[in-house]
Amino acid sequence: MFNEELLQGKSLRWGMVGGGRGSEVGYLHRGSALRDNAFTLVAGAFDIDPQRCISFGENLGIARDRLYSNYQEMFAEEAKRPDGIEVVSIATPNSTHFEIAKAALEANLHVICEKPLCFTVEQAQELIDLTEKKNRVFGVTYGYTGAQMLHQARKMVENGDLGEIRVINMQFAHGFHSSEVETSSAGAKWRVTPEIAGQTYVLADIGTHAFFLSEVIAPQLKVKELLCTRQSFIKSRAPLEDNAVVLLQYENGAIGNLWASAVNAGSMHQHKIRVIGSKASIEWWDEHPNQLKYEIQGEPARVLDRGMGYLYQDETINCDRAGGGHAEGLFDSWANLYHRFAVAIHAKNNNQEVKINYPSVYDGAEGVKFLAKCVESANSGSTWVNY
Ligand SMILES: NC(=O)c1ccc[n+]([C@@H]2O[C@H](COP(=O)([O-])OP(=O)(O)OC[C@H]3O[C@@H](n4cnc5c(N)ncnc54)[C@H](O)[C@@H]3O)[C@@H](O)[C@H]2O)c1
Repeated sequence: MFNEELLQGKSLRWGMVGGGRGSEVGYLHRGSALRDNAFTLVAGAFDIDPQRCISFGENLGIARDRLYSNYQEMFAEEAKRPDGIEVVSIATPNSTHFEIAKAALEANLHVICEKPLCFTVEQAQELIDLTEKKNRVFGVTYGYTGAQMLHQARKMVENGDLGEIRVINMQFAHGFHSSEVETSSAGAKWRVTPEIAGQTYVLADIGTHAFFLSEVIAPQLKVKELLCTRQSFIKSRAPLEDNAVVLLQYENGAIGNLWASAVNAGSMHQHKIRVIGSKASIEWWDEHPNQLKYEIQGEPARVLDRGMGYLYQDETINCDRAGGGHAEGLFDSWANLYHRFAVAIHAKNNNQEVKINYPSVYDGAEGVKFLAKCVESANSGSTWVNY
């Protein structure tokens, strides 16, 4: 079971940029980081509107003098305090991630950043270089991947339970933007505005989540080339796509396909991955994260359940917050990630080797590369491009 005792006897002093009142992802960060006392929220530049930041932050119980008009002010003022923040989470729209993350690293902070990490592979490399130079922990909130059954899936692939991997089928295809909702939703509006969202909409917004699931489950598979086709079914969204299909050719001969969509009418999430091997297949769906389908050719299909003794004894078991049979969900998955970020930060602060596995700046950079390659392929007439 999960151990919620304080790590190294202390809670990390934590600040947030973005994630203010009414934001989509802000409460997910706080609801999971604050769960295990591994982080204490002491400062924030929560909002693009300074007044809203103050009223929101005060209502969270944060001291008035630690609520800031912008991230520059927060990093500068917090650095002067003996009790200043040690780590910051960035939960702002995509276009701001690079500049804020870079400034945070330059202020010697550990960083936890939203996906997509940034816009270009060059920016991603700059963040990697700075993270290494400053010897900091840089986590990326691929929030679904704290789910224990994904780590069971990884062990099954690693141990050859599926045989040789042949096909990876990935999708994240919801229907929430089947009509032009951006005319009345600010959160949808920036997602279809290239200056703020970047060169893609659904691929960056949700496709990267599905792609990262495959990297968690089958890290040994390396993409050799890919082909992408993308569409703007709501015409006003062009050049950004609201639907995309990607084919991936892996170096070992396996093939992958990824479908990202915001126009899958009637669908909630349909965020799924199916990994097909020569002997068996596994399948995980984020709407039922406690279960993993395990289908061996020629045998009755099985469903593996979280919390059971027959699972591999890995992170799968160590971070169970409730026994088998009780449903865990998205907040538990995020809390597992935040706890791993904290373990890594303590190790780094104490000059110890970071042994725990967490989505890092390298994974964020891989996501950025994936997006760049998809755009390159789609914009050159959906041809195969070397990865
Ligand atoms: N990991 C996930 O599962 C997940 C889920 C949703 C969103 N996201 C990502 O989180 C980020 C935010 O998305 P959202 O849906 O919460 O957006 P949102 O539009 O709902 O909220 C953005 C928040 O950031 C604030 N903000 C904007 N610019 C700022 C700045 N320069 N300084 C300080 N605050 C600023 C806004 O005032 C608002 O509070 C995006 O990059 C998105 O891709 C990730």
